[in-house]
Amino acid sequence: MTSETATNRRQREHARYGAATQQEFDGSLPQPFPRQMGPRAMEYLAEVVDSGLTCDMVGRFEHAFAEANGVAHCIATPGCTPALAVLAAAFDFELGDEIVVSSVSDFGTVQGLISAGYIPVFADTAPGTINVSAETIEACITDRTRAVLVVHLSGLICDMDAINEVATRHGLVVYEDACQAVFGRYKGRNAGTLATAGGFSFDAEKTMGSDVGGCILTDDDELAERARFVGHSRAGEMIDHFGRVHTVNGFAHRMTQSTAAISLAQLEIIGPQVEQRDRMIRLLNAHLDEIPGITALPIPPETEVYSCWMAGFTIDPVQFRCDVEEFGAQVAAGGIPGAGPMRYYLLPVALPFLDEAAKQQRFPYSQPPASRNYHYDSESCPNAHETLERFIRWSSFCDRYEPHHCEQAASIVRRVAEENRI
Ligand SMILES: Cc1ncc(COP(=O)(O)O)c(C=O)c1O
Repeated sequence: MTSETATNRRQREHARYGAATQQEFDGSLPQPFPRQMGPRAMEYLAEVVDSGLTCDMVGRFEHAFAEANGVAHCIATPGCTPALAVLAAAFDFELGDEIVVSSVSDFGTVQGLISAGYIPVFADTAPGTINVSAETIEACITDRTRAVLVVHLSGLICDMDAINEVATRHGLVVYEDACQAVFGRYKGRNAGTLATAGGFSFDAEKTMGSDVGGCILTDDDELAERARFVGHSRAGEMIDHFGRVHTVNGFAHRMTQSTAAISLAQLEIIGPQVEQRDRMIRLLNAHLDEIPGITALPIPPETEVYSCWMAGFTIDPVQFRCDVEEFGAQVAAGGIPGAGPMRYYLLPVALPFLDEAAKQQRFPYSQPPASRNYHYDSESCPNAHETLERFIRWSSFCDRYEPHHCEQAASIVRRVAEENRI
């Protein structure tokens, strides 16, 4: 990346979050905002206020979310980025240990493990997909690997049986970023409950859009205890005749009572919303797959419920005059708000600070025995790069889609395809 002046930096648009990401969208397709709110949201919020902040709304939400997912523990956090940061700290690996992680994701997937001093090693995606596989993960495992962090991108669930099998063979912890797959189902179990632990986001624009919230799910009693200690209590312990001491560098990543109130209300309406997303994305994909040169994201048979957060398809570049950028812009202008490429999801390219640290062998890349030289570029993940160069998505896909909206969205893509066909 080239260096830039302070003025350029000031003029550059900062990344937007939540409802602001979709503020300028309009058109006749349904949009996620304003979000549908669970009917009891005000009642739960009033309880928090009326109790003078003494009610345990966070505990109620944690209990309800854990139960709904069939696991023992939920540790509520202010988002998935902090949830995964808490998990990284709770695992307590050595500085400079490697974590194999999906190459296509949001920065929130890796922020915590980088801050914890671990080294992310990005696994490629399986060809033609945006998710990692057991094979692409195994190719990254070294003597320094301690864990595997998989992302179920767009709601498509990685083949966890095969991934867990590889990890067990190598003695590795597996955990999941289930931000985009809440209540998605794989072989009878929910996304985020398919390994040691899972991280979730209840950010306003996510499928269970609540506010700026998230959580960890785990069945592991010891890990849950450690995550609460490190993540909620700043690792503070009370010592007789002294008071609080901090045995490690912990966080105060606690969910607020008011977010818990909204999250609890949203949890009560999420079931039918996920079912609708599953039905609509399968229908939309079937329409998209009928268009020559267009391939919807393949849905693996193990994804029994596709809790789809974003819709997407690849284009066959040899069939069209325009590139992916232009194709996406025409689809957006044609009426699918927010449609466009997502090259920035290629993490080895989107995190130039990491490549710089690796090149200069700065900490933790200076940490002996660093098992090899690390490079962060598109060449390390050729499948992911190749797919993202042809991929167009829209994260404004939502549970308000009905069959005629799927036809409408596909007809917009079809029109753009026909207008640009060679
Ligand atoms: C796959 C994935 N992981 C992590 C995050 C970060 O979640 P949060 O915004 O709740 O910190 C996101 C949010 O966009 C995401 O999509």
